[in-house]
Amino acid sequence: MRAAQVQEFGGPEVLVTVEVPDPVPGPGEVLIDVAYADTIFVETQIRAGWGGEYFKVAPPYVPGGGVSGVVSGLGPEVPGEWLGRRVTAFVDGSYAERAVAPVTALTVVPDALDLASAAALVHDGVTAAGLLELTGLGATDRVLILGASGGMGTLLVQLAHARGARVVAAARGAEKLHLVRELGADAVVDVSRPDWTDAARTALGGDTESESRSAAADVVLDGVGGELGLAAFALTADGGRFSAHGAPSGGFTPVDPAEAARRAITLFGITDVQFTPAGIHRHTTTTLTEAATGHLRPVIGKVFPLPQAAEAHTAVEGRGVVGKVVLGVSGASGASGVSEVSGVSTA
Ligand SMILES: NC(=O)c1ccc[n+]([C@@H]2O[C@H](COP(=O)([O-])OP(=O)(O)OC[C@H]3O[C@@H](n4cnc5c(N)ncnc54)[C@H](OP(=O)(O)O)[C@@H]3O)[C@@H](O)[C@H]2O)c1
Repeated sequence: MRAAQVQEFGGPEVLVTVEVPDPVPGPGEVLIDVAYADTIFVETQIRAGWGGEYFKVAPPYVPGGGVSGVVSGLGPEVPGEWLGRRVTAFVDGSYAERAVAPVTALTVVPDALDLASAAALVHDGVTAAGLLELTGLGATDRVLILGASGGMGTLLVQLAHARGARVVAAARGAEKLHLVRELGADAVVDVSRPDWTDAARTALGGDTESESRSAAADVVLDGVGGELGLAAFALTADGGRFSAHGAPSGGFTPVDPAEAARRAITLFGITDVQFTPAGIHRHTTTTLTEAATGHLRPVIGKVFPLPQAAEAHTAVEGRGVVGKVVLGVSGASGASGVSEVSGVSTA
């Protein structure tokens, strides 16, 4: 089968299509014909050699973890009814035409949901649903979401809105701000503007000028890190919750734990969004069901065929695509070239 392999740490060009043996399902495992593989930002950072302290990979390796597809083979002890089912799973190296996964780790994709949307939810849906549970976001909360236009951010905006929270979405540029407003943000702020923190305070509430000056977020969901994250920490209310789970800026927000303790702010980090198999299954089922019933919209900006995995990474790093980048893998996906997904409105 074909797979996209990282030959050495470096730029997108180190992702090369290679032929590798088909994986063989062992006892309790299934073979999946991969239709779509999701891409997430951190995969570009790991490919570039970042994050060795968190992610133990060494080239050559096949990146990725989230797939949607069809069960095409069964290992010993797997009931025959699994054959032909549409499923999602986390696998070891998803940028490939076939993958194996334990049958216990599969989630069946509802009939009403297409496999591209299902793939877009494998990582982002689980983490987004898990983050809202972790931070206990509720209807009386004001939440500030950094990286709101990204794969996970667009889901966080919708899920937070559905919980009744006041949602302030931080993103960059008119097109992305328009998207997050359309998805349910009560207010949007453009982080490319130098005065964005003033705009955020105003958006977080306060009818009078003096109230606005002191307004703050009960919950901050920081999918960006670095300086933006530090500025958002200053916007967190005393007694609030701050999740520093994102580092596309190059590092997680370096919050001072002593300062957080002084202000009674509960901190969460990347280790808090690693879920148990039962948690992954529960959050996946919830988000696939929400999407199938039209209550959650995964926003896919562009689908690249597997042999163009390098171009897909270039697109993620370039931050020009509005919505998520997904790899179309098998013939079942109908992906023969770079394509915009029809029916996805991003403006
Ligand atoms: N997806 C998951 O399941 C998951 C799980 C755990 C942790 N995380 C972390 O959460 C973060 C977001 O993940 P994602 O998969 O949603 O990524 P994504 O779809 O690529 O979104 C990344 C977001 O970060 C912003 N961004 C990118 N580079 C930036 C920079 N240099 N400075 C400031 N903002 C930047 C982008 O907005 P603009 O381009 O508009 O600025 C975009 O909204 C990542 O750090 C990831 O590691 C994700």
